[in-house]
Amino acid sequence: MAKKQCTVVLLTGGSSGIGAATAAMLADKGIKVYATSRSGKAPENDNIVPLVMDVNSEEAVKETVSHIISLEGHLDAVICNAGNGIAGAVEDTSIEEARYQFETCYFGSVKTIDACLPVFRQQGFGKIITVTSVAAFIPIPFQAYYSSVKAALLMLTKALSLEVKPFGIQCCSVQPGDTKTGFTSARKYTAKAYDGAYTDTMKRSVAKMEKDEQNGMPPEKIAKAIYKQLKKRKMRLNVTPRFDYRAIEVLAKLLPTKMIMWLVGKLYC
Ligand SMILES: NC(=O)c1ccc[n+]([C@@H]2O[C@H](COP(=O)([O-])OP(=O)(O)OC[C@H]3O[C@@H](n4cnc5c(N)ncnc54)[C@H](OP(=O)(O)O)[C@@H]3O)[C@@H](O)[C@H]2O)c1
Repeated sequence: MAKKQCTVVLLTGGSSGIGAATAAMLADKGIKVYATSRSGKAPENDNIVPLVMDVNSEEAVKETVSHIISLEGHLDAVICNAGNGIAGAVEDTSIEEARYQFETCYFGSVKTIDACLPVFRQQGFGKIITVTSVAAFIPIPFQAYYSSVKAALLMLTKALSLEVKPFGIQCCSVQPGDTKTGFTSARKYTAKAYDGAYTDTMKRSVAKMEKDEQNGMPPEKIAKAIYKQLKKRKMRLNVTPRFDYRAIEVLAKLLPTKMIMWLVGKLYC
């Protein structure tokens, strides 16, 4: 009989923002959280085990999963939350900078999921939560690569869910809107961002986005949505916390693309 309860979880990006809030909330609910990040920091709690793990190192990710299995004998869920952002017009973004954006958010999540899949298949149970974004279904100018990477991760989550369903593995994309975290100060700008034809619009646009982030939801709101899915017998495929962002998601599906583009342009360009 497959095990159905999540008691041991691997979390990436547990040192700050949404990850730190998620680690604290799950730990308070009695879930053991292996909270990983490059710094290895995490909220203090008896149920939180802070670990240094760079999601860009396939080896480190595999070692971490083996370490958890050697201690716990099982791993019930993985939350791929580690991420960062880079801003700048597409023309002002080098291929290296675009790759940087895909490295942590996309391939870092892929490496983490890949390390967990054999364990989940063997157990006949496992939950995979990816932290994507509202930017996965709304095109964000001057953060085009961020939007692209989150859209890619969302699609990966959906396609993967079909592949792994026969093995008792479930997937869910949690899609936050603006959230007040360290994400804003960690955002990088492309080398050419301040020295090009797009600079004035880019500065206005990204300043508005950053203001919205800093006035955004507390990360606990996203943590609660993640906890709710972990508790459920059957996770939802995608979850967008807060009513207004859910409304945006529905409108993005219903409205003609032309209208969505006009609205986003009005807002950011
Ligand atoms: N804030 C928002 O408005 C918002 C909206 C939608 C989606 N999101 C998504 O939410 C997720 C969490 O972001 P946040 O807002 O909580 O930002 P944050 O406060 O900057 O946290 C980012 C976390 O990722 C970790 N991280 C970064 N690179 C890493 C790497 N290579 N390996 C391991 N850990 C790494 C950081 O820890 P170290 O620096 O210690 O490694 C940190 O714990 C991201 O995927 C982000 O795209 C955020």
